[in-house]
Amino acid sequence: MLVVSDLSAAAAAAAERIARRCEQAATSRGECAIALSGGETPRALYARLASDPFRRRIPWLRLRVFWGDERGVPPDDPRSNYRMARETLLDAVPVPDDRIHRMPAERPDREAAAEAYAALLRAHLPQTADGWPRFDLVLLGLGDDAHTASLFPHSPALRETRRAVLAVEAPHLRMTRMTLTPPVLNHARDIIFLVAGPQKAQAVRAVLEGPRQPDAVPAQAIRPVDGALVWIVDTSAAALTSRV
Ligand code: 6PG
Repeated sequence: MLVVSDLSAAAAAAAERIARRCEQAATSRGECAIALSGGETPRALYARLASDPFRRRIPWLRLRVFWGDERGVPPDDPRSNYRMARETLLDAVPVPDDRIHRMPAERPDREAAAEAYAALLRAHLPQTADGWPRFDLVLLGLGDDAHTASLFPHSPALRETRRAVLAVEAPHLRMTRMTLTPPVLNHARDIIFLVAGPQKAQAVRAVLEGPRQPDAVPAQAIRPVDGALVWIVDTSAAALTSRV
């Protein structure tokens, strides 16, 4: 866990790691496939990536952009993770439109939409020996209830072992969601948790220092198979851990 002073410092540390990973992947395999997170916390990071030096440094033409999860709303809805990333990052950098893959979580045929997105991953990402699509980098956030992506406490999606993408319910949020599943997330080469704010302190402690119970603490389900994992956390979110 990398503990830094505030959200701005966390965004700077995450931007540096993302830039390095993108450069490495573009050099080693000609392309970098990343999965973006939603919510509020990544806004500062996306704004930083969209500004120099990262705007000049990152090989945007070689990026392929996906999402870790999406809300069941149209792309122009203010709650849309796609819209947020568009406005804070993608409209400011030259990633070709045909390399930006929005999650169509608002489609009424939700199962088919999830399967279609899984097919996109299979079509564009390298596959692991056991057939899972492999991201170069996955960015994740953490909810106050220790959910990540749209993997909520006690969700059947936490026990998924076959499918890469699922349409899930979020009744407490009165909306549906679409999410990548733990096996896909855990086969990534690099996973970054970006977490900030005192309201996250209980969840951070539960995930990193609490008893192992991923069904109740979903972010504990994120354990890379053979990739790297880093928690970039500000002091207020790390306040209840032994690290501060
Ligand atoms: C979403 C996210 C979700 C998010 C957490 C934290 O669609 O909401 O992908 O998993 O990362 O809810 O959200 P905040 O950064 O807004 O606290």
